[in-house]
Amino acid sequence: MSTIDIYSPLHTAQLHLRNRIAMAPLTRSRATADYIPTPIMAEYYCQRTESGLIVSEASPISPMGIGYVRIPGMYSQAQVEAWKPITAAIHASGGKIFAQLWHVGRNSHPDFLNGELPVSASDIPIKGFKDTPSGKKEYVAPRPLKNSEIQALINDYVNAAQNAIAAGFDGVEIHGANGYIIDQFICDGTNHRTDNYGGSVQNRARLAIEVTEAVSQTIGSQYTAIRFSPSGTNGQMYNSTPVDVFDLILTEISKFDLAYVCLNEPQINRADLPAHYPKYVAPAFRDKYKGTLMTNGGYNLETAQAVVSNGHADVVAFGKLFISNPDLVSRFRNQAPLNEWDNKTFYDGGPKGYTDYPILTL
Ligand SMILES: Cc1cc2nc3c(=O)[nH]c(=O)nc-3n(C[C@H](O)[C@H](O)[C@H](O)COP(=O)(O)O)c2cc1C
Repeated sequence: MSTIDIYSPLHTAQLHLRNRIAMAPLTRSRATADYIPTPIMAEYYCQRTESGLIVSEASPISPMGIGYVRIPGMYSQAQVEAWKPITAAIHASGGKIFAQLWHVGRNSHPDFLNGELPVSASDIPIKGFKDTPSGKKEYVAPRPLKNSEIQALINDYVNAAQNAIAAGFDGVEIHGANGYIIDQFICDGTNHRTDNYGGSVQNRARLAIEVTEAVSQTIGSQYTAIRFSPSGTNGQMYNSTPVDVFDLILTEISKFDLAYVCLNEPQINRADLPAHYPKYVAPAFRDKYKGTLMTNGGYNLETAQAVVSNGHADVVAFGKLFISNPDLVSRFRNQAPLNEWDNKTFYDGGPKGYTDYPILTL
């Protein structure tokens, strides 16, 4: 048992944080309809700079990676220019921010993609309906990426990472979690490929490892992180070998000396998980990943302190609590009451439920 507390700084060769409390990536849909960041985003993030690290809302790496309305992209010069004042304001208020890089894969719809089919590992659709700019539409079967197209996908991550650095971000977190394209390759429920990106655990792990390697070699390993959800079920994901494939991925990416890896805890009741999914992800994989480990999902002050004290993780990210408590770190320190979050304003647009949560006055 260590005595590290979550308010203590983290100093490694690759990462320096003023405390071990991170703001998790949170899509808030306050960008423009054509995916350009807006000034109100600076105000929102600056309210939350007490955290050791902010991870930005997920930002598409290419037009084909888009699957939600009013999300801020990372693929065009106009987006880079619009991000610059936001990252500058965050730095001026003492904060640190990594950009989360996103490609949703099958979790899109032709209405977001100029009529093109979404791409994925295989042609397995999500069942149900997608919110598109023109209302709810049935998901379509995605087009499996050709083997010859995968390098271009990796290049899109690299370009977006370079854009993020040009826009003033302190680093990038590759979104490998929650049922989006990297996860669609990792999980055999969505990956039925017969080439070197499908089938065996090694092949399903390949895209995650290659993207991480390419990004870290281009922008520097200390500016590169990745997020996974080994027990994730979002987006109707299924993995017959979560332990084997993530043991392999984490062992391999330990060699890249990244800023950190974030592992999400399950987003559903642990009792409802398939029996072969780890119920507690951080302890299940701690010995496989050699670098700084961030954990996220369902934590409160007490459980966050416990997971850091017992050495199962180094940093804890909070999502919904940071939406409703801009000054979460102060509130924790002062054991002050926490504001409740309002789900109805998560993606609503405008300041309500975005920049108007009350800040503690002591
Ligand atoms: C409104 C909302 C938006 C989210 N957007 C993202 C996102 O852009 N990228 C991501 O990796 N996770 C996203 N998540 C998941 C959160 O980062 C986090 O994993 C989840 O909320 C569980 O953590 P918590 O219990 O501390 O809220 C989102 C969650 C919510 C509630």
